[in-house]
Amino acid sequence: MHEPILILYGSQTGCAEDVALRIGREAKRRHFRPEIMAMDALDRTRLPRISIVIFICSTTGQGEEPDNMKAFWRFLLRKAIPADALRRMKYTVFGLGDSSYTKYNFPARKLTKRLLQLGAQCFYPKGEGDDQHYLGLDGALDPWLQGLWECLLAKYPRPPDVSIIPDSIRPDPTYRVTFLSEDSGNVGNDVPDPSLVPPLVAAQATIPSVHVPMTLIQNHRMTSPDHFQDVRHLELQTTADFAQRLSFQPGDIACLVPRNLPNEVDSFLSHMGWQSIADRLLQVKPMEPWVHLPALLRRPITLRKLFEVHFDIFSVPRRSFFEMLSYFTHDEMETEKLREFISAEGQDDLYAYSHRVRRTVVEVLNDFQSHDIPLDYLFDVFPDIRPRSFSIASSLHAHPGQIHLAVGIVRYTTIIKTPRRGVCTKWIETLDPTADARIVLPVTFKRGTMTLPKSPDTPLIMIGPGTGIAPMRAFIQERVFQGAHNNVLFFGCRHADKDYLYGQEWAKLEAQGALKVFPAFSRDQDQKIYVQHRIREKGAYLWPLIANENAVIVVSGNANRMPEDVKDAFYEVAQLHGKMTAYDAQSYIRQMEKSRRYQEECWY
Ligand code: 2AM
Repeated sequence: MHEPILILYGSQTGCAEDVALRIGREAKRRHFRPEIMAMDALDRTRLPRISIVIFICSTTGQGEEPDNMKAFWRFLLRKAIPADALRRMKYTVFGLGDSSYTKYNFPARKLTKRLLQLGAQCFYPKGEGDDQHYLGLDGALDPWLQGLWECLLAKYPRPPDVSIIPDSIRPDPTYRVTFLSEDSGNVGNDVPDPSLVPPLVAAQATIPSVHVPMTLIQNHRMTSPDHFQDVRHLELQTTADFAQRLSFQPGDIACLVPRNLPNEVDSFLSHMGWQSIADRLLQVKPMEPWVHLPALLRRPITLRKLFEVHFDIFSVPRRSFFEMLSYFTHDEMETEKLREFISAEGQDDLYAYSHRVRRTVVEVLNDFQSHDIPLDYLFDVFPDIRPRSFSIASSLHAHPGQIHLAVGIVRYTTIIKTPRRGVCTKWIETLDPTADARIVLPVTFKRGTMTLPKSPDTPLIMIGPGTGIAPMRAFIQERVFQGAHNNVLFFGCRHADKDYLYGQEWAKLEAQGALKVFPAFSRDQDQKIYVQHRIREKGAYLWPLIANENAVIVVSGNANRMPEDVKDAFYEVAQLHGKMTAYDAQSYIRQMEKSRRYQEECWY
């Protein structure tokens, strides 16, 4: 009875974490004792003693492992680990990936192999889910889970009088949320200022991730007022006390944790019938020993603050939101619909209702009005606000104590009439550095995938259309500081006079001989001109830099088709000017990728 099961996840956007939490709930119903955490949060000294482990592992970027399993993965790769170090471990892996990438489910596959090498035994075959088809994930996950439980229950049978708890019975809450009594002396204590509390990224991964409080000093629109997109230039300045914490390289990434807007939270609290309790202080305590309490929740906090800084009520909810909500709706039809959504057969419907139209948590709650969610279950029902990553657009040598960001404000429509807005950029839009109150944001940093060539003599060819310009600006500033000359930039935007991001800076540097710029204005003429067209056009100039001077190529921007189109252009340059066959040209670029002379940092 109560066999312990460790569920370890590597999750970038929360999907793998959602799956891990679901497996935890299902394990409990079967009387196992689950412990769920990010791989990086595991105390590694426990590894040799652990018996059953279920790994849930997503894929990010170009087949890379998610941030909160990176340290764990690096640890597993250490040569010093003896070959049979994990001989007690029985494990299985479920990978989440996107089959449109060549490196489909790479982290899960690499992990499975490495665990085997270290002597662990795979007790149940690895499963893979494809989020290219939203259905694919649950389509593959449901049967995989069914087999997993059959396998585990065969190994660890229940006594005949102990039955599986049906999933119509709600699970116990993970936290206890209580009001602080009026006479406890705590009322009136300041709610911790979230700007000074380490962001959640640290809590999720429990890596001692250093955050730097930074003051917003600039937030202006770079694109012309009549352009379809609002792209912001942001500048953040560290305070003197934290200046020494600010150390990043060009190509690195800054993470910001967005907040929900106070007026939106206010109407949400009214809708939930929580206005009268919104400003009372709450105490949050984990009910499970493995739950790591984020720093923000270690002191009393109001419901209003929780919904401003902790719960992501404007995100598109995952499956577990629907599952947990189904325990708290009184209307039978609503409950039935929610149960249908989370069933294997209901996946089509759920996709159409939620994911495809990007329906938010708040909107779902409006549709399923009969809910009454007890405070103890807040953390089980509502998803957390996650940090968002932005390539840093400045170098410390050019702007000591600062980071600059170039942020496209996200707005789009779906078949739902209400326009959709990005949770983070909607918040960024409202931040006014000229307002009376200073805006201090906690910023964390992580390594980007692109790095500058070691020598300033190595030519650098940069391709950064749209906000892909951000890391290129950091590179250019650093290279100018280094006195490097061979700096070549391909920038793409729609119009020379509307969205040529940092155009004046490039013109100035070009006049000084520090940069060569080839802009591609896609809509200033009838025929579309993209960066890849300019690359082909300038092939005779580029090829000697690549072939004779070992130029490094860096590509950044929207990951739809651009990265592949740009690579195709370089194949053609190699064929035409390097006199290569198509096959040789591809091998040549592949070789450049291997030796990190061709690097990409792309996003959706
Ligand atoms: P478009 O919007 O006119 O199609 C920055 O977003 C620039 O990248 C815009 O000029 C955009 O053009 C262009 N762009 C769109 N798809 C692209 C692709 N596949 N390759 C390169 N650039 C692209």
